[in-house]
Amino acid sequence: MELRINQKTVQVDADADTPLLWVLRDDLGMTGTKYGCGLAQCGACSVLVDGNVVRSCVTPVAGVVGRDITTIEAIESDEVGKRVVATWVELQVAQCGYCQSGQVMAATALLKHNPAPSDAQIEAAMVNLCRCGTYNAIHAAVHELAGKRDA
Ligand code: FES
Ligand code: FES
Repeated sequence: MELRINQKTVQVDADADTPLLWVLRDDLGMTGTKYGCGLAQCGACSVLVDGNVVRSCVTPVAGVVGRDITTIEAIESDEVGKRVVATWVELQVAQCGYCQSGQVMAATALLKHNPAPSDAQIEAAMVNLCRCGTYNAIHAAVHELAGKRDA
């Protein structure tokens, strides 16, 4: 089947119900998207599909044919994604980093839909798990990106 990933068209040979995560990682070698729980619980596998954050570990590849998939490998080609990554670096959000590609995808999706989210909206959107406990740093980074530097 034919997929549109990071503005390129790629051909993949996979069963229709194969999770998108495994197509990305195993078939296409795009290992920036991580496997955590495999149960739609942690968000490590988050990618954007038509601008919305999606958990690729439970998304059958057949369901994203013809849709616009963006992974962490290309997130900096998006203007908002580029700002998110720059702020993540500036505020040194990551610890081990394992969950962070998913966190960046979630933050980018939030800010593309709502450039100035309230604290409650940030809390509601940034629900990916982080075993290192970077939640305060993540919140601070999204807060900064929402233009609330002094709040
Ligand atoms: S690996 Fe997909 S949500 Fe945890
Ligand atoms: S930075 Fe280590 S799991 Fe989140």
